[in-house]
Amino acid sequence: MELARPSAEDAGTCTARETTALRRFAEDVRVGLGSSPKHLPCVYLYDARGSELFDRITRLPEYYLTQAESEIIEAHAARIADAARGPIHVVELGSGTSAKTVALLEALVDANGSAIYRPIDVCADVLRASAEVLTEAVPGVTVKPIRARYIEGLERVDADGEVLLLWLGSSIGNLERDRAAQFLSRLRGRLSPGDRLLIGFDLVKDVGVLAAAYNDSSGVTAEFNLNLLRRINRELGGDFELERFRHIAHWNPDHRRIEMYLESLEDQRVTILNPGLTVEFSCGERVHTENSHKYTLGGIAALAEDAGLEIEERWLDSRKYFSLHSLRVPGL
Ligand code: TRP
Repeated sequence: MELARPSAEDAGTCTARETTALRRFAEDVRVGLGSSPKHLPCVYLYDARGSELFDRITRLPEYYLTQAESEIIEAHAARIADAARGPIHVVELGSGTSAKTVALLEALVDANGSAIYRPIDVCADVLRASAEVLTEAVPGVTVKPIRARYIEGLERVDADGEVLLLWLGSSIGNLERDRAAQFLSRLRGRLSPGDRLLIGFDLVKDVGVLAAAYNDSSGVTAEFNLNLLRRINRELGGDFELERFRHIAHWNPDHRRIEMYLESLEDQRVTILNPGLTVEFSCGERVHTENSHKYTLGGIAALAEDAGLEIEERWLDSRKYFSLHSLRVPGL
């Protein structure tokens, strides 16, 4: 068993990459809050505190997504592992705590004796912690974390064997539908014939169930969304007062998606030192922070086809709330 710790390069703290990331954050905030309607990119929700809050969300009873997806992975891990030939590189986009991946890695080690796991995430803290836990929990797995956004991370994977790319948690739902097809097609371009993408989709369902998942009764989701303002305060010198905003999540039936906002509770002005910005908010004005698109099985089939990927297999949980699809890069 290799003791894998993120190298300074992969999960370091104060590097040139760090400075570039901060500049990019400031620029994205300037553009987003200068737009009408205002918006902020959802990737910034995941700082150390955001990743921790999101982990709490995944354990809330209302947030059925994680339970449903874990149920599917646990039930079919051996079958997924059997499809892999020889030593396999498991690459995961937005790996977070990697909690759902453990069952799969265990099955792969059972089938092949070893596995290489390349978790990609924007949060160094969550990568460091999960690498430590995984290395202990699944002997035979070599964990080599990559701190990066999706595509930049994938570019740093130098797999010499078969790749199993994981994109779990229905994160694809955070993209607009046409962007989702483009993005899948980009992923296909980075993979080789015969490689697989194991991807989770949240399915269209009863609106009450959906709404509760994004408006939990204990307020963790609200805290998670509001943490974005806290992050702007800390990293960019903002003076947001969090109690003057509230979390909103609502179902948009036309786009079949949950839309998340931060709503200003009064007329107010906020200053952000980096990049030197004063932003006016009127009472009731919203800042869009994330969409979570829900899919039908037909919609998923169309998406896979648009992206040039073949559906190899698909599984649903017992309540039919969520699907896991194994998509294969054609050509072998
Ligand atoms: N990818 C998650 C989802 O769409 C992210 C998420 C859950 C989220 N709850 C949220 C994002 C609340 C913003 C606000 O399910």
